[in-house]
Amino acid sequence: MNKPDDHIFVIFGASGDLTKRKLVPALYSLFVQNLLPDKFILLGVSRSGFSNEDFRSKMKSALHEFKEIDDLSKIDSFIKKIFYLSINTQSSDDFGILKNILTELRTGNGISGRTIFYLSTPPNLYSIIPKNLALHGLNKQDDGWKRLIVEKPFGYDYDSAVQLKNELMESWEEEQIFRIDHYLGKETIQNLLVTRFSNGIFEPLWNRNFIHHVEVTSVENIGVEDRGGYYDSSGALRDMVQNHLLQIVGLIAMEPPSSLEPLSIRNEILKVFQSFRPIKKEEVKKTAIRGQYLASTIKGEHAIGYREEKGVDPHSLTETYSALKFYIDNWRWGGIPFYIRTGKRMPTRVSEVVIHFKSTPHFLFNRNGFTNSSNQLVIRIQPDEGILLKFGMKIPGTGFDVQTVNMDFHYSDLSVERIPSAYERLLYDSMKGDSTLFARTEEVLAAWKFLMPVIEAWKSDHDIPLFGYPAGTWGPEHADDLIEGREVTWRYPCKNLADDGIYCEL
Ligand code: BG6
Repeated sequence: MNKPDDHIFVIFGASGDLTKRKLVPALYSLFVQNLLPDKFILLGVSRSGFSNEDFRSKMKSALHEFKEIDDLSKIDSFIKKIFYLSINTQSSDDFGILKNILTELRTGNGISGRTIFYLSTPPNLYSIIPKNLALHGLNKQDDGWKRLIVEKPFGYDYDSAVQLKNELMESWEEEQIFRIDHYLGKETIQNLLVTRFSNGIFEPLWNRNFIHHVEVTSVENIGVEDRGGYYDSSGALRDMVQNHLLQIVGLIAMEPPSSLEPLSIRNEILKVFQSFRPIKKEEVKKTAIRGQYLASTIKGEHAIGYREEKGVDPHSLTETYSALKFYIDNWRWGGIPFYIRTGKRMPTRVSEVVIHFKSTPHFLFNRNGFTNSSNQLVIRIQPDEGILLKFGMKIPGTGFDVQTVNMDFHYSDLSVERIPSAYERLLYDSMKGDSTLFARTEEVLAAWKFLMPVIEAWKSDHDIPLFGYPAGTWGPEHADDLIEGREVTWRYPCKNLADDGIYCEL
């Protein structure tokens, strides 16, 4: 990999959690691997009144705390590249100060006008900051490219997403905007493309003729932690489904792209989103399940319920769990159900895709020990990253008894020393101007459009239950009713890729 062009990387919201937990560690990793430009400045911007030295020392401590690589020997050389500016981003005048500092830093360090602006701020600033940047000409590319990286959420619903898009487009071009969905930066998510399109064995089976249904799970054992305020106005559907889960579905369901060009891949994903069968409002009760975690005891310890979390309304109706059944109306997937679910305070943290293949038309053998968990391809995104194929084998001895066996591959068996963090990959790509792993406006809007009937029905139809589930369990049992078919259930994955079941080791 080669180095990106020299530039200044500006982070708005620099005093926030994301900067110290993810962004600065990712930039440091790139630095250690010699993947940052020789001339590079990181400028942190936020309201807090820090000096350069204060901010540098905070980032140094953060690197010790959150670093994702072991080599801290170059920390001092990295820290010297960091600067800080305190401004009020709501005031357009303050962007004059930013402009002057950028000019000073560019001249003093021999850096061209190329600049990345990363919005790691509350979403209400997503249109104000780009507008203020533009008012001071900081979007103009005559002295070098200017890019804007926007964290999710891109809007709160379809209308607000359209409004945000229009506001951004007043002064920025689509090719300047990089919308981060950090799941796309995960190595295992990118491997979905490679698994499907580099192997002749899977693709011929990857369609309605051989697949019974597809299941996507992305759950966490943690609750909302200190993000109660944000989460309570968001909920599981907006926080995880609208972006991460639908992007996974896009990669699983897309047609082969004509090339690895960003537009070619993104076009195929967009076509999947555009083929989602619209959910009718009156069907929401049957096809979407929502839940909220309740206080319980986990491993002997009291776990509080969602409504007791800091920043959460004690009468909140926000869902911390959602499960959905839907169809993709196209030639490949016509009639095949997709089931997706996400939740906080589940028994374990796991993200995976399960491709459930159809059973044989007629079963010849004894079913002892042979269950519907055979005929599955499990693609584990995290943890114990890998791929598992479950199929039937003859039990040695007399007769023809069949049991389910596993064949698995674990990333940990590869000789590579470490898997780069999602942010590392995405920040590097944005510096190179490669938008393959970023969401396009049309995708974001199509995802919102698809979910709007559920969002609206959950808001206005009080007959649709919000099921309580004890913290540390797999969510409302009603989610099982979504799944069609005899003896078919969700897979209840354990921490280890090969294991599943409600009572497994977590
Ligand atoms: C974020 C959500 O986008 O993804 C969080 O806002 C969630 O609520 C997180 O915890 C999960 O990411 P990961 O990489 O830990 O699976």
